[in-house]
Amino acid sequence: MHGMHGEDGTVQGLCELADIPYSSCGLVGSAVGMDKIVMKAVFQSMGLPVLPSIYCYRAQWQQDPDTVIARAEETIGYPMFVKPANLGSSIGIGKATDRERFRHAMEVAASFDRRILIERAVEKPVEINCACMGFEGEVLPSLCEQPAGWDEFLSFEDKYTRGGGGKGMKSLARQVPAPISAEMTARIQNYTADIFRMLECKGVVRVDYILEADTVYVNEINTIPGSFAFYLYEPMGVPFSALVDKLVLYAQRALAQKRESSYAFSSDILNKAISGTKIIKK
Ligand SMILES: Nc1ncnc2c1ncn2[C@@H]1O[C@H](COP(=O)(O)OP(=O)(O)O)[C@@H](O)[C@H]1O
Ligand SMILES: [Mg+2]
Repeated sequence: MHGMHGEDGTVQGLCELADIPYSSCGLVGSAVGMDKIVMKAVFQSMGLPVLPSIYCYRAQWQQDPDTVIARAEETIGYPMFVKPANLGSSIGIGKATDRERFRHAMEVAASFDRRILIERAVEKPVEINCACMGFEGEVLPSLCEQPAGWDEFLSFEDKYTRGGGGKGMKSLARQVPAPISAEMTARIQNYTADIFRMLECKGVVRVDYILEADTVYVNEINTIPGSFAFYLYEPMGVPFSALVDKLVLYAQRALAQKRESSYAFSSDILNKAISGTKIIKK
C-alpha cells in the first residue's frame, strides 16, 4: 500500500465507496500526506517550521530550465534537495551542490513526476521521527527515534537493505528514544499531534523532522509508515498485537461515525422547476 495508488487516498476512496472499514488515514490526510508540495503548504499554514522551498511543473522545467535554475538559485541557493512531489522511500530524490548537479537532479525527478519540489538542503542533518496513533479525540504521539547517520541522505537502499533484513524502516539502526532534550521531544510530539488532527488522520502515521543544530523543521508525514512504527510504541508498553487491535478499532469507529452523518438533504427545488416555477438565478 506504500506510495501512489495505495497510500495517496485512492484505495481509501474505494473503501469509502464500498463502505468498507479501513485502518489508515481518510482521503484528505492520505492525499495531502502523499504530495510533498501541498503537504508543505499545509504545514506552513499551521505555523510549523519548514525549510524554504519552491516548486515547478515538469513542463516548466522542460520549456525553460534557465528560469527555474535562476529562481532556485536566487530564492534557495545551493545545496538544494530536489524531490518528485509524489514519491517516497527516497526514490527520485537528489541533492544538488552546484548547477550541473541541479540539472541532473531535476532530470531524474522530472522522469518520476509532473511536479517537483526544490528545497534548501540542511548540511549534516539529524533526522528525528515521531509516530502518532489514534482517531478523533484519541491522539497518542510515540517516543521519538533517531535513525543512524548516513552519508548524504537516507537512500532507498539504506531504508530497505541496511541491516541485511530487507525489512524496511524496522531493520534500520536507530536510537529510541532519540538523544534530544526533553523540551525538543515535547515540541516534536506536540507538532506531530497537531498535524495528526489537522490532516484528520487515523491509524498510525509517522512525522519526520530534520534538526539543524537546535532548530527543528518538519520534513514530511508518512501516513502508512513502515511496520506501523510499532517499535516506537513497544517501549511505551503497547505490544504489536495491541497496536493492530487498536487499528481495527479505529477503522470500525470511523465507519460508525460515517454512518451517523446525514447524506440526504430534502428540497422541493426540482418539483418547483418541473411545475414551471421560475427559478431566479443570481
Ligand atoms: N532538505 C533536506 N536537507 C537534508 N536532508 C534532506 C532534506 N530533505 C530530505 N533529506 C534527506 O533525504 C531523505 C528522503 O527525503 P524525504 O523528504 O524524507 O522523502 P521520502 O518521501 O522519499 O522519504 C530524508 O530521509 C533525509 O535523509
Ligand atoms: Mg522520508
